[in-house]
Amino acid sequence: MKRKLVEPAQARQQPDWRKAVLRRLPNVLFVTSEFADYIKVGGLGDVSAALPRALRERCDIRVLIPAYREFVAQNRALEIVARLPGLAGIPECSIARTQTSDGVVIYAVICPELYEREGSPYLDPAGNDWADNDLRFARLGLAAADLARGVGDPSWIPDLLHLNDWTSALAPAYLRWSGHHTPTVLTIHNLAYRGLFAHQHLDRLGIPPNAFHINGVEFCGDISFLKAGIFYASHVTTVSSTYACEITTPEHGCGLHGLLQARAKQGRLTGILNGIDESWDPSSDRHLARPFGVDDWTGKQANAKALRQEFGLAVSRGPLFAIVSRLVHQKGLDVALQAVETIVRQGGQIVVTGRGEPQLENSLGEVAKRYPGKVGVKIGYEEKTARRMLGGSDFLLMPSRFEPCGLVQMQAQRFGSLPVAHRTGGLADTIEDGVTGVLFDDFSLAGLLNGVYRSMDIYHSPPRLKTMRQAAMSRPCGWRGAAANYIEIYRTTLPASVAA
Ligand code: ADP
Ligand code: GLC
Repeated sequence: MKRKLVEPAQARQQPDWRKAVLRRLPNVLFVTSEFADYIKVGGLGDVSAALPRALRERCDIRVLIPAYREFVAQNRALEIVARLPGLAGIPECSIARTQTSDGVVIYAVICPELYEREGSPYLDPAGNDWADNDLRFARLGLAAADLARGVGDPSWIPDLLHLNDWTSALAPAYLRWSGHHTPTVLTIHNLAYRGLFAHQHLDRLGIPPNAFHINGVEFCGDISFLKAGIFYASHVTTVSSTYACEITTPEHGCGLHGLLQARAKQGRLTGILNGIDESWDPSSDRHLARPFGVDDWTGKQANAKALRQEFGLAVSRGPLFAIVSRLVHQKGLDVALQAVETIVRQGGQIVVTGRGEPQLENSLGEVAKRYPGKVGVKIGYEEKTARRMLGGSDFLLMPSRFEPCGLVQMQAQRFGSLPVAHRTGGLADTIEDGVTGVLFDDFSLAGLLNGVYRSMDIYHSPPRLKTMRQAAMSRPCGWRGAAANYIEIYRTTLPASVAA
């Protein structure tokens, strides 16, 4: 079953809107390539699991994800609710419906040839992008568009699509090319991943040739899924206010700043700060050596002791720094590595966990060998390790070059580990300099060391350390504020009949 799409000569002004039932909750399909209950590569997985749960009182929100191997392994009994046709080189698929144990309805795109493989959602086991990532994530976007067109589950048709990052960003384009106008909200979690593919892929993606244009999917001679999403979506959000401003500048706009400036001027670009979910509570965390509350300093010390043991560090009275990160250029770990010698010389110790670029993994392994008892490294990605590290450390180092939002610094504050971070993006919006952490201005070794020296001063002034820890641990957490802001965006984007 194959079909052909066209780019309309001119977008219709009035939405071709299905008759909506007045005064019911709007149906929202939240489309994502990660969902922490099943699979998580970074913060997108956390946000995708938490935000729909926070929104479900206010809308009938359901989640659409690819049926990766991990998902299929955890969901043996699946109800198939639809079969969707292919398009050009994109294979046909089925849509299965299931529920999480707490009742979040999940639609999964079943297409074993695209998704059931060993490796991460984005990379093969050798760490390279999957060669068919264009088809894999076009399939996800097209499935979302088809469900919005009522092709899938006729008993539930989305009134609005909420897309996330490049991996679902073709959905608004496929909708447009099939002549449908369901409203779409695209959240950019990271502008650096633009979903770029050579223009030779146009045919296999079923993209109408006249959409390969500056006013369409074209970006500097390539196809960009994210650019397409920004161009065709009704509204664009990103995950902090500071990042929403930054991405309209040449420095942080990844070549898309012109289009983003236009969206900002039209009032169609909004920053909504992420939250962290309430499971980040040190007083009840079962992974900690000893759960502890805001004033329980012996509890914090017990976790520090256990952490030093776990990472093979010597007993010490100096500050303990943690790094919990994906090992990618964005996170500035090359600069952190240059700061290790000074930190150790000043009496500090460092624990690191992360996984990612092989070169960074190797450099970290070498640093651990060079400073036995002072630096401990675990290459990996395990939530319970992250929790113990934040519970036991005094400071979190987060010298990100840029950071759309960042969740780790919020998790660290909850666990009484003060972030030492570059003043950028969501770090600037979630850390109060000198109150709940330390922000440094220059992204450079000197800038980071300035932050490190300030943190050491704080450490050696116990009353100040105590006050800052209390302030950091008492920061509000949860998703209520963010959920209210998303509802507002949905409301302004939806036609009046549904938003009533
Ligand atoms: P990003 O999405 O850019 O990786 P975030 O700070 O938004 O950064 O989210 C990262 C998420 O992944 C957090 O929940 C954090 O606790 C977790 N995380 C990051 N690195 C590791 C790791 N090495 N091991 C376990 N969890 C990690
Ligand atoms: C991306 C960003 C990170 C953000 C996360 C969740 O991975 O790098 O800053 O917190 O998405 O929105």
